Amino acid sequence: MQDLPINSPIGIFDSGVGGLTVFKSIKELLPEENLLYFGDVARVPYGVKSPSLVKKYSFQITNYLVKRGIKALVVACNTSSSTSLEFLKKNFSIPILGVILPAVKEAISKTKDKKIGVIGTRTTIESGAYENLIKSFGKGIKILAKPAPLLVPLVEEGWIEEGVTRIVIRKYLSPIEKWGADTVILGCTHYPLLRKVIEEEFKRIKFVDSSKAVAQSLLKLLKKEKLEGGEGREEFLLTDKPEYYLPLFSFFLGREIKEIKLVKLEELDGQI
Ligand code: DGL
Repeated sequence: MQDLPINSPIGIFDSGVGGLTVFKSIKELLPEENLLYFGDVARVPYGVKSPSLVKKYSFQITNYLVKRGIKALVVACNTSSSTSLEFLKKNFSIPILGVILPAVKEAISKTKDKKIGVIGTRTTIESGAYENLIKSFGKGIKILAKPAPLLVPLVEEGWIEEGVTRIVIRKYLSPIEKWGADTVILGCTHYPLLRKVIEEEFKRIKFVDSSKAVAQSLLKLLKKEKLEGGEGREEFLLTDKPEYYLPLFSFFLGREIKEIKLVKLEELDGQI
């Protein structure tokens, strides 16, 4: 890795706005770090796309952020993490963290009955990434992984506590509860915003929110690599309609966001 100034930003990327849940947890835990958020709203959702296409998009974004001088990268999107993380690590020399492993480790440490449930987008669940990691780190643990795609648009609509959202949550999670999971991973960027409602509906289950787990892993990584330092600056980049997303950014972060910059898709190069 070439020598970058210690106050270089940490890149955080997602298919859209959901990765702001990860951004928020990182900001809370590491307020001094400079953060550069990239949301690919022009091409969202990734959760229904083929792994090879998600890989291509993830590569282009990482390439762009590396050229912008980030010192480390958090792949905040579960769909990108589950399909592209190893590929990105092979192709770029900066430290790169995904959201899957930190959540898996936390879930393994929490389960008493050795039964973990996972919900995520279709592409994430079909990739088998959660299952594979749980199997390799938690011998003897049983897994039930199910897609829960409707929760993404409900969150983007701001329908957090609405009756319809509770119905959808019950529909997706009841079979996992019946199966006997005592711990469930919320394996999608949007789900942490529903955590309170989900916990109200399923009181006996422990939920793992990958945004908190990844912030802790990032802290450890920065310490280990001696990369800590910054002035608490933040910058937000989107691939389409930045002004349109200002209210949603403010909703996700729970404070007013005044500026989002546009990065046109033509600016993303790096064919794979
Ligand atoms: N960011 C995606 C994820 O965490 C959810 C939205 C999408 O499908 O792109 O999997």
